[in-house]
Amino acid sequence: MTRRKVLVVGAGGTLGRAVVAALAERHDVVAVSRSSDPGVDLGVPQQIDTLFDAVPDADAVVCAAAGVQLAPFCTLNDAALAQALHAKLFGQIALLRRAASCLRDGGSVTLTGGRFDGVLPGGSAGALANAGLEAFVAQAAPELPRGLRVNVVAPGWVQETLDGLGLRGPKGTPAREVARLYVAAVEGAMSGQALRVAA
Ligand SMILES: NC(=O)c1ccc[n+]([C@@H]2O[C@H](COP(=O)([O-])OP(=O)(O)OC[C@H]3O[C@@H](n4cnc5c(N)ncnc54)[C@H](OP(=O)(O)O)[C@@H]3O)[C@@H](O)[C@H]2O)c1
Repeated sequence: MTRRKVLVVGAGGTLGRAVVAALAERHDVVAVSRSSDPGVDLGVPQQIDTLFDAVPDADAVVCAAAGVQLAPFCTLNDAALAQALHAKLFGQIALLRRAASCLRDGGSVTLTGGRFDGVLPGGSAGALANAGLEAFVAQAAPELPRGLRVNVVAPGWVQETLDGLGLRGPKGTPAREVARLYVAAVEGAMSGQALRVAA
């Protein structure tokens, strides 16, 4: 297995910590969040440029950052809806666009969406971002230059998140299991795929 330099955005989060732990077994990981140095806020495009200046020659980017808060859509005005989508949908696409010119040949980008069984109360804005990401990635993948790949991991509930919220109803997947999908996306040959934990 070739050792790769992997930039992980959202490295301090529930999923991000598990992804960093899994990748660090075989790769060189640069862990980034809004508060790290170098750091990045996906909602601020100039910071994405600065990030790639600070971390040159990466082979892969993994993004496990910037969730969309649960909120009934009637409570979101236009500005609040745009704000909710900004970092997760447009921020991750902006990250992909920069990565397409900054990563080494044959590198990869792995983004994070989400897919929940049935209706998730307050989940409409998140569903919009997640569906948009999956559709974008499927269409954008063949357009990437230099053998680059892009995939999106689409987790359902992560068990640690359910535990933190005190929710016992839905079924969750431990973060370390979801993390294996990110490792597979970095090390594999797939592109344009939405990756899910097998039911
Ligand atoms: N947990 C779940 O059950 C679940 C299920 C489905 C999908 N997902 C998706 O998985 C992703 C990660 O979820 P999580 O539960 O691990 O989230 P989390 O625990 O809240 O962690 C989010 C991470 O992203 C960073 N971050 C937040 N906003 C950012 C921004 N604008 N720019 C850059 N970094 C930012 C945070 O660190 P700083 O605050 O220091 O920047 C933190 O490291 C999200 O997209 C979420 O929608 C999660």
